[in-house]
Amino acid sequence: MQRNWRTDSLAGLGDEIWAGLTWASQHPGEPWRLPALATIGEAGPQARTIVLREVTPSARRLVAWTDSRSPKVDELRRDSRAQWLFHDPSNGLQLRAVSEVQIHQDDEVARAAWTAVPPPNRTNYLGTEPPGTVLSRPDSDRHPDNSDVPSHFAVVVATVHELDWLWLDPAGHRRARLRWAGERWAGDWLVP
Ligand SMILES: Cc1cc2nc3c(=O)[nH]c(=O)nc-3n(C[C@H](O)[C@H](O)[C@H](O)COP(=O)(O)O)c2cc1C
Repeated sequence: MQRNWRTDSLAGLGDEIWAGLTWASQHPGEPWRLPALATIGEAGPQARTIVLREVTPSARRLVAWTDSRSPKVDELRRDSRAQWLFHDPSNGLQLRAVSEVQIHQDDEVARAAWTAVPPPNRTNYLGTEPPGTVLSRPDSDRHPDNSDVPSHFAVVVATVHELDWLWLDPAGHRRARLRWAGERWAGDWLVP
């Protein structure tokens, strides 16, 4: 999807960024659909790829699904700060979204999200052992579909308060930082 990244308006840029995130969340194959989610672990920074499932620009919200037994959930429960790193190599775009995360498990949010999990993907949350458990063989355990919400299905709901956007355009690199100022995004152009 072509976006007007060359806008000189910071407000316009914010709209383009949120439209780009929303589009990516709805279109498998879009590079921004597979961000890295960085958390603060006891041993230091922890980053991993995650699928961006849902975006609500008006709420500044990014949503992902995970297994509540995975280390990232403990990390986020201890320290809710998380950064999402988006990269689109086709046009040299990087976006860092700084956020506070809430974990939803065994509640209305988790139940509503579970209805959207495609049946083939449900097995991802039905393993008997937590992610990261040592196995004696490389194959992981697979379980039949189960339409009940497994108790360890969790929804990562992030509220973004800062966006750092960088565009390495051959015609001139551009960078901007947008911060949530209570009712609107306020920002600055930065040296790339
Ligand atoms: C393409 C791709 C997509 C992934 N999507 C998710 C996801 O949506 N949710 C998730 O929990 N893990 C996802 N993973 C696995 C994570 O990167 C990570 O390995 C796993 O969640 C364990 O992370 P943790 O040990 O840091 O908690 C994905 C991995 C890849 C390669």
